[in-house]
Amino acid sequence: MRKNKARVAVLVSGGGTNLQAIIDAQKNGVIRHGEVRLVIANKADAYALTRARNAGIPTLTVLKKECGGQREFEEKIAAALEMHQIDLIVLAGFMAILSKDFTGRFERKIINVHPSLIPSFCGAGFYGLRVHEAALAKGVKVTGATVHFVNEIPDGGEIILQKAVKVYPHDTPQKLQLRVMKQAEWKILPAAVEMLSAKIIAE
Ligand code: GAR
Repeated sequence: MRKNKARVAVLVSGGGTNLQAIIDAQKNGVIRHGEVRLVIANKADAYALTRARNAGIPTLTVLKKECGGQREFEEKIAAALEMHQIDLIVLAGFMAILSKDFTGRFERKIINVHPSLIPSFCGAGFYGLRVHEAALAKGVKVTGATVHFVNEIPDGGEIILQKAVKVYPHDTPQKLQLRVMKQAEWKILPAAVEMLSAKIIAE
């Protein structure tokens, strides 16, 4: 049956500025074919949860320490996604590894935003500020962000969108992180959500 809008879930762990960019893009019409129907956090104090509540989006917190293990953690998340009939799962600063069981269950339905130009500075151990620290340590003059499909290999799925960002002398990891977010992440993540949502509803 044809739907009006793809049902989107966003998985978060922290500040949720990428979630905010998606919410804002929905409000200002950049995202027209998708709608965030659920936000799931794996941290009880994630500020992203406040952003979701402020936007009237249902939230769920799933804490790994309250689960019997990875399987139960993922089962709870999967059950919520299925209950809400989610079409597209967006990892937006979600700092937990998902097993092959989980990624296989939602093949080509999960996307992630990563704060570098993959294949640079990605894979196990490269997350958040660490990515920018590594880029500065290497002395790259250009970095950026990538939105990609999620499979069993960390940051290894097919690339959907990328955007380059300049690195300046005297950048700090924090300064670079903010520039990459403003110039790349907050643009390409909503753009990818819109692109894939439009595809989903046309199916
Ligand atoms: C973002 O920079 C995102 O790209 C990064 O964490 C930050 C989350 O910020 N994700 C990763 O490093 C995943 N490997 P946010 O909570 O404000 O959106």
